[in-house]
Amino acid sequence: MCGIVGYIGNKDTKEILLKGLEKLEYRGYDSAGIAVMNDEGVHVFKEKGRIADLRAIVDVDIAASMGIGHTRWATHGVPSKVNSHPHQSAEGRFTLVHNGVIENYDLLKREYLSDVPFASETDTEVIVQLMERFVSEGQEVLTAFQKTLDLLKGSYALALIDNENNETIYVAKNKSPLLIGLGEGFNVVASDAMAMIQVTNRYVEIMDKEVVIVKADQVLIQDRNGESIEREPYLAEIDATDIEKGTYPHYMLKEIDEQPLVMRKIIQTYQNEEGRLTIEPNIVNAVNDSDRIYIIAAGTSYHAGLVGKQFIETIAKKPVEVHIASEFVYNMPLLSAKPLFIFISQSGETADSRAVLVKVKELGYPALTITNVAGSTLSREADFTLLLHAGPEIAVASSKAYTAQLAVLAILAEVSAQSRNIPVEFELLREFGIIANAMEVLCDSKEIFEQIAREFLSVTPNCFFIGRGVDYFVGMEGALKLKEISYIQAEGFAGGELKHGTIALIEEGTPIIALATQESVNLSIRGNVKEVAARGANPCIISMKGLNMDEDSFVIPKVHEVLTPLISVIPLQLIAYYAALHRGCDVDKPRNLAKSVTVE
Ligand code: F6R
Repeated sequence: MCGIVGYIGNKDTKEILLKGLEKLEYRGYDSAGIAVMNDEGVHVFKEKGRIADLRAIVDVDIAASMGIGHTRWATHGVPSKVNSHPHQSAEGRFTLVHNGVIENYDLLKREYLSDVPFASETDTEVIVQLMERFVSEGQEVLTAFQKTLDLLKGSYALALIDNENNETIYVAKNKSPLLIGLGEGFNVVASDAMAMIQVTNRYVEIMDKEVVIVKADQVLIQDRNGESIEREPYLAEIDATDIEKGTYPHYMLKEIDEQPLVMRKIIQTYQNEEGRLTIEPNIVNAVNDSDRIYIIAAGTSYHAGLVGKQFIETIAKKPVEVHIASEFVYNMPLLSAKPLFIFISQSGETADSRAVLVKVKELGYPALTITNVAGSTLSREADFTLLLHAGPEIAVASSKAYTAQLAVLAILAEVSAQSRNIPVEFELLREFGIIANAMEVLCDSKEIFEQIAREFLSVTPNCFFIGRGVDYFVGMEGALKLKEISYIQAEGFAGGELKHGTIALIEEGTPIIALATQESVNLSIRGNVKEVAARGANPCIISMKGLNMDEDSFVIPKVHEVLTPLISVIPLQLIAYYAALHRGCDVDKPRNLAKSVTVE
């Protein structure tokens, strides 16, 4: 949700900024811009559209030793050249990029800047105009920066340059992610280490409300009182090749294909020397000590939470509630006496989830984050973290992170059960091996899913996914995948629920994708399929081996019934992928979306 970069040093600034933005494009891609500074002053280039559109207008000959850049996901103001960042103050002294939302921008405009002509409709512009106002009134730049930050309500990660100082980038954050990367003779600023991994793997975290003065040979972190803070850098463990597409046409296809590998990585990482699945004892104790688990998440991670609830309740016999983060924060249910909160988030940066975490910490409850990104905000701020080890997920539509989330939740459930001598009816490690192989079989069956997408989804305006039990939850995820990348209106329904209203939408040829992986409901879901078929629907049944019947479109390999979501989602991911491809959609960067949703 907007990505920012900054560079100061001795290399080709514009190229480093553009490359960084290309890596951050998954965070927002409706417009982009860079500002670079050399002896002649600040030069701003911005354009509506993708980074490639920006690249096309950047002066190839411009040499500069510092600059800032931004890729935008619009919040205030339509995607346009004028609303894109960097923004400049009226007299041109300051130039700024910002990720986040300034909630009181209108108030600040009225109170301090009523005489200033604003160029854009953005909330961001108020920050840069305030800077110029305070400096023109005689304040030092750093003092003006502090004063401006003190006035802002909301979230921000920002990088500011002063036309009269070509040695400093001013940086600050509150709620939105931001890192400083350290180099020899240069330093960088980035929303995400991935953006600058090509130039450095040494990063320093910045905490909310801190101010950072970044120079080519020095990084000075200050708290709000101007006191210096020493913080050790860490090494970002991202393999630069992990963030390349290789020979794949899309990141999404690569990431779907990586699922068997990720599964094996998880098996390896969560196994101890005796060959048993293991989890840090503090985390297991936190689960065991709680009387109820509250899973908080959004989107695909929420869908993983729904399946995770089944795992934890079935295997570890703990009651679990699953909540959509953006609802929970304003509408908290009555909590149990000893709750444990589990935050599931691929990015670890989702603002809705973070808002709940802040509240949970205020209330003094323990929190565990399950995330793919070590050092992310949700990971840092929770008491405990479990990592997904899925490698960077770049496609906006989540695939491998979902199955990794399920795997880690299953491990947590099993380790907790074993620590309390609760018998588990299967050996998870062995089942995971079977699942990794089954995933491979599914990834090797792409032509069939391409054919299913062609047959069922090429012309339809809508599609329903039905299932019972965990199949219903996987259907919800299948529907989300389909709608977000192919723009087909899709919904996941509990098989028995359609007849209570939604069946009115069934017309001649309406595609219904039904999952049948659970023996106890196999006949009833097939009954639901018959109901819609009798009203003209075009059913596509995906069943599991052993439960399959002649009319089924695809049969997935047999795995333990409790764990079927780990593989039954793969056909749905691939069907969505091919449906989007056939419709000519931009699979990796669907319209209106961003990978990391850092605004509430
Ligand atoms: C859908 C998707 C989103 C995310 C959601 C939460 O494919 O990726 O629905 O799952 O925005 O993001 P994280 O998991 O990063 O908290």
